[in-house]
Amino acid sequence: MNHQPVEGFSKLSKQRKIDWLISEYLSNDRSYEQILQQYWNNDSNLQKMHDEFSENTISNFYMPYGIAPNFLIDGKLLALPMAVEESSVVAAASKAAKFWIDKGGFKTTIINTEKLGHTHFIFKTEAHKLLHFFNFKLKKKLLGATEDITKNMRNRGGGILNIKLIDKTSELEDYFQLKASFDTVDSMGANFINSCLEQFGKTLKEEVANEESFSQEEKDSLQIVMNILSNYTPDCIVRAEVSCKIEDLKDDSGISNEEFAWKFKRAVTIAEIEPYRATTHNKGIMNGVDAVVIATGNDFRATEACAHAYAARNGKYSSLTHCTTDNGIFRFWIDLPISVGVVGGLTNLHPLVKFSLALLGKPSAQELMSILAVSGLAQNFGALRSLVTTGIQKGHMKMHLFNILNQFGATEEEKQHFVTYFKDKTVSHHEVISELEKLRNK
Ligand code: MEV
Repeated sequence: MNHQPVEGFSKLSKQRKIDWLISEYLSNDRSYEQILQQYWNNDSNLQKMHDEFSENTISNFYMPYGIAPNFLIDGKLLALPMAVEESSVVAAASKAAKFWIDKGGFKTTIINTEKLGHTHFIFKTEAHKLLHFFNFKLKKKLLGATEDITKNMRNRGGGILNIKLIDKTSELEDYFQLKASFDTVDSMGANFINSCLEQFGKTLKEEVANEESFSQEEKDSLQIVMNILSNYTPDCIVRAEVSCKIEDLKDDSGISNEEFAWKFKRAVTIAEIEPYRATTHNKGIMNGVDAVVIATGNDFRATEACAHAYAARNGKYSSLTHCTTDNGIFRFWIDLPISVGVVGGLTNLHPLVKFSLALLGKPSAQELMSILAVSGLAQNFGALRSLVTTGIQKGHMKMHLFNILNQFGATEEEKQHFVTYFKDKTVSHHEVISELEKLRNK
């Protein structure tokens, strides 16, 4: 069936939007309406707030919200909130947290907190002339013109840290940048940074127009291409690490501590040198990071983009975690570039985000960076520990068992049967189905 484009969809009421979708795409089957409605919230204010987070909303999309307890981070015992749909992520985090709790827990260091943004522009001029103009006039004007925008941030201890002129003409004809660094304190700072950058674009245009050292032809060539923050923040970075004597590295899979340590280290080395493995390895890290990013109302697309850009910073995609086993000490760490906030955005609005932040003891943005890096490191520890010992499917499929059983409408009694049945066996999709058939045919 050919569908017709719709005019003014955003202006339709929620009910009219649903009516239109059901008639246009769902063969007028009204049972679909119930699926949408069962996720509406009875509290109309809460529903309205969720509707207003986005546009054209017709329902809410739930994610499981779980807790990984027993995280000892810099001496504080925390329970991490994790919003994630993938089974075994929360279980793996909890298991890793418990493993490290009696070995000193996780230690973190904030390496830097600089955020970046650029005014990208085209200017047909000589680079040295532009640099002179930037150093002796423009930079001061840019800072002056943004004083109103930066006032509150400066009062909170942040603001613009520096502005540099970058000559990119060797890569693209006449292309320059104003590259600015910012301290946005406890906010992620996207709106603040973009507002400053848009003002830079305007001021650059005005100041070039008034500048006597540029010819009219040069002035006419200036084009502000765009003003936008960069989600790549290699100088907003946190390190999280765990370490212990190899003799204390007891694993329950039956292999010796030494064997576990070297097998684990070798798995990290493979992720360091092999991009195919590094991608999956880092994906596992982001399982842990994103779940807490989402639960605390931050932007997981930004944290994903940044982590992967950083993983490729040396020209080859590589592991975000590293491991050494020198002098009888097992050391495992992550350097994670991550820009997050604990004020602004969803943080003041979404009730579950408020809950998450309260649960974490109302952390500063830096403390949240530490928690996120730990969550990623713990997840990676859990995944590698399984991969180099029992294999991933044992734990993974155990957690997935209920998903399979739910698909087949298993009763509570049947589920109990399967928990006992798979107690000492690796779950497989095939075996669940054949055992379920046998059980039901009895
Ligand atoms: C699955 O979501 C994540 C893992 O594949 C990570 C890894 O292989 O390291 C288990």
